[in-house]
Amino acid sequence: MATLATVDLVKNYGRAPAVRGVCLTVDDGELLCILGPSGCGKSTTLRVIGGFEQADGGDVRLDGVSIAALPPNRRPTAMVFQKYTLWPHMRVFDNVAFGLRLRHLDKATIAGKVGEALELVGLPEVGRRYPHQLSGGEQQRIALARALVLEPRVLLLDEPLSNLDARLRVRMREEIKRIQRRVSITTVFVTHDQEEALSVADRIAVMNEGRLEQVDTPTAVYNRPRTLFVADFIGRMNRLAATYPGDHGALRTDIGLLPAPEGVSWPLGTELVVAIRPEDLRLARPGDGLAFRARVEVVMELGHYRQVSLQAISGPVPGPALIMIVGKDVDVRAGESIAVTPTRYLAYARPAGVTDEDHDRRAEDAPAPLEVALDATPRVAV
Ligand SMILES: Nc1ncnc2c1ncn2[C@@H]1O[C@H](COP(=O)(O)OP(=O)(O)OP(=O)(O)O)[C@@H](O)[C@H]1O
Ligand SMILES: [Mg+2]
Repeated sequence: MATLATVDLVKNYGRAPAVRGVCLTVDDGELLCILGPSGCGKSTTLRVIGGFEQADGGDVRLDGVSIAALPPNRRPTAMVFQKYTLWPHMRVFDNVAFGLRLRHLDKATIAGKVGEALELVGLPEVGRRYPHQLSGGEQQRIALARALVLEPRVLLLDEPLSNLDARLRVRMREEIKRIQRRVSITTVFVTHDQEEALSVADRIAVMNEGRLEQVDTPTAVYNRPRTLFVADFIGRMNRLAATYPGDHGALRTDIGLLPAPEGVSWPLGTELVVAIRPEDLRLARPGDGLAFRARVEVVMELGHYRQVSLQAISGPVPGPALIMIVGKDVDVRAGESIAVTPTRYLAYARPAGVTDEDHDRRAEDAPAPLEVALDATPRVAV
């Protein structure tokens, strides 16, 4: 068993807070991704967990027991750093064996464990080579083997694939997932790449400016982003300003009226943001009550689907710019005017006294968005 928890973790550099009260739990054998923009505190969080930085507040616990006082080499964690570096003057074998030698294990045991670790990452034959005789992806796997050979109870990976080209990244992330599953190791995987997080994580912790915005399964983070920051950071999102006049059960938006979520108790005049995923817009059919007109600006062929840039037409002034995703069988051309209808939206109400900027940023006390399904048409899979 290895359940990792951070309790109200705080880290300041000088006066500037890098991590502000992060509470995370990573279950035994779980792969949790910390995802967020550059500078939001991902590496700092990971370094505090690994003991490479001292926290200014809070605690790090393994199975309920604090490990905060232990130096990195006495923690049951192993880390692959953002700029993983294999020692260039050492053969692969010695790179992987390094941590075991520090533990004064005997030669035969070390040889056995290094062999197993190299086997695990699929490179049993390269022990005698030097790092420069390996490809980027192979070096990456050796960096992983060097962490795994220590048999840590928690594996910490800081952007482990950032030095690799796009294709290799995809291959390696599948590889890491496979190895992680096989050894069933509690893992924290830091990335700023949403696709990477969505594809490997059991759960994703979305971080912004030192705080956690949402911790959820990839599906939940995508379908029900808790804040507008998460909504924009993960996938594409169309945003519309909306108000709730309160008199006829509908929201007023720049693409017309939308049915309000059932049972809402917003005050009259409440301002909201309506968020619509590109795949939750489709061509309207005759009789669609919520249809609005839009001009097709650009059609991008993206393999098995098409991404359509739209300019909504709402009276004399141009309406909002929107993105729609349709299947490749749907024929739309740049320049034509089409009727579009939303099939689902999320409504984010702004609490009283909160400015636009706060509304985007503040995760705490933000009310959960309300989800409204407008019809039962199957969505285009992307
Ligand atoms: N050693 C340090 N001294 C001072 N400030 C630091 C130090 N390390 C990080 N910071 C600051 O703390 C904040 C968080 O940095 P951190 O490295 O955790 O970000 P990150 O989310 O890992 O970003 P990236 O995706 O670019 O790696 C940043 O504003 C950064 O400038
Ligand atoms: Mg980092």
